Amino acid sequence: MAETWDTIADWYAERLRTGSAMHEFSRDILLDCLPETLTGQRILDLGCGEGIITRALAARGAWALGIDPFPRMIEQAQAAPKNGPPGAHYAVDDGCTLATVATGSVHWVTAALSLNNVPDLSAALTAVRRVLVPGGGLAFTIAHPCFEAPHATWTDRAQGRPRRVVGDYHAEGFWRSDNPQGVRRAGNQHRMLSTYLNALGGHGFLLEATAEPSPSSRVAAEQPQRAGLPPFFLVRASRS
Ligand SMILES: C[S@@+](CC[C@H](N)C(=O)[O-])C[C@H]1O[C@@H](n2cnc3c(N)ncnc32)[C@H](O)[C@@H]1O
Repeated sequence: MAETWDTIADWYAERLRTGSAMHEFSRDILLDCLPETLTGQRILDLGCGEGIITRALAARGAWALGIDPFPRMIEQAQAAPKNGPPGAHYAVDDGCTLATVATGSVHWVTAALSLNNVPDLSAALTAVRRVLVPGGGLAFTIAHPCFEAPHATWTDRAQGRPRRVVGDYHAEGFWRSDNPQGVRRAGNQHRMLSTYLNALGGHGFLLEATAEPSPSSRVAAEQPQRAGLPPFFLVRASRS
């Protein structure tokens, strides 16, 4: 049976709770591009998974709503921190519609590694624009599509330091990793960098910042082959 985010939700939550250097790096770079204090800010965390970002936003003082279309993910998020920050809330919802979120009701939308999972980017950006207040912000990370393109692999260690082998960059669409321990065994949507950037402009977002941070020292220690390549692409934009 093909895996989905629902069927790997327990595995994903366990992986993050036992300390995933890569996910903590993703969380930290996203949080770093937001204002230091989020008190009084209402934030929607699109594709919250088990809630790593939602909790961090609430810990900085925000009222944060994490949404995810997969009920088991939301159950994991709700079960997570018994003594977690009071501002973290969760609901089952689809990032392509955000049907449970009122128009013009949030100051920020965050989306950590989730826009590369939504099947319809245009629908998601339409929904994000609808729920943001005018001038509100969108901050998101995606797996860097230049290096995490479908079925990217590594050269053989026997040939020295492994190097990334990438093809199929132009092959946009759904693909699934055949790595039984990989997050992307649940599948994900590959899109070119230009597709994301053009879609933002086309939906009335102004690009404020992009970044391709080097892996943290913890990530590089765990996965030395990743040194010198950015695992994530980070974008901050505002709603015009
Ligand atoms: C790599 S996980 C990231 C989860 C979390 N943001 C984090 O940083 O750990 C991708 C998430 O996107 C969610 N997702 C998949 N399709 C989605 C959709 N249509 N709308 C919103 N989220 C979606 C998945 O359920 C999953 O929780």
